[in-house]
Amino acid sequence: MQESKLLVANWKMNPLSVKDAEEIFEHVANGMEGLASPRIVICPPFPFLASLSRAKERHPLIDLGAQDSFWEDQGPYTGEVSPAMLASLNCSHVILGHSERRRHLGETSAMVRKKIISALKARLTPVVCAENPSQLEETMGGMSKEETDRCIVVFEPSWAISTNEGAREASVEEIKRAAESFRKIVANAPMLYGGSIAAENIAEIVMGAGLRGALVGKASLNAEEFVSMARAIA
Ligand code: PGA
Repeated sequence: MQESKLLVANWKMNPLSVKDAEEIFEHVANGMEGLASPRIVICPPFPFLASLSRAKERHPLIDLGAQDSFWEDQGPYTGEVSPAMLASLNCSHVILGHSERRRHLGETSAMVRKKIISALKARLTPVVCAENPSQLEETMGGMSKEETDRCIVVFEPSWAISTNEGAREASVEEIKRAAESFRKIVANAPMLYGGSIAAENIAEIVMGAGLRGALVGKASLNAEEFVSMARAIA
């Protein structure tokens, strides 16, 4: 049986109110009614998780994720959020190692690696981002198959992220090449691509490169467009 596709929404730190967040979530959930694939994972900023966790109870087929989590379970770590806290808010996924965190917060591959291990302990599915094979090797190289099989891996070069100057989506050939190298590090993890994905290019990229799905930033805030993207790869 073909495994269902995956579409992950990374809402980033866009200026939304709780009401906006609830509306986008409801719109997406209603638009997905009756569609078994793709599986949708919505990753809002932390403050919206409590409210969306209640919305998720009405829409169990939509998964909820966070945009980061810390590597310790508890303790004096001001500002950090543990994987267990996320799990208690109905989160099943967490984005880790996004290039924006690596760049603006100095997150290293060693830190991301610790976060992956701790998220797995809390039974979350890490959605691990890497810009290239050597960064994925630093982040996940040498992990056990049991660990890597429980992760989702995203090829997301920062030059492809829509909000970066001169951004363009990676070509199918570039994605295929990266995916082939990624496979040597994480043999079975579902593979996604992220960077300037929109309704017009998603099918060509996901199907063309033989991927499980995509990680979508900016375009995921437009509920209608996001549902069109989902339908394009259903
Ligand atoms: P984008 O962002 O879809 O706006 O390019 C993707 C991401 O950074 O996750």
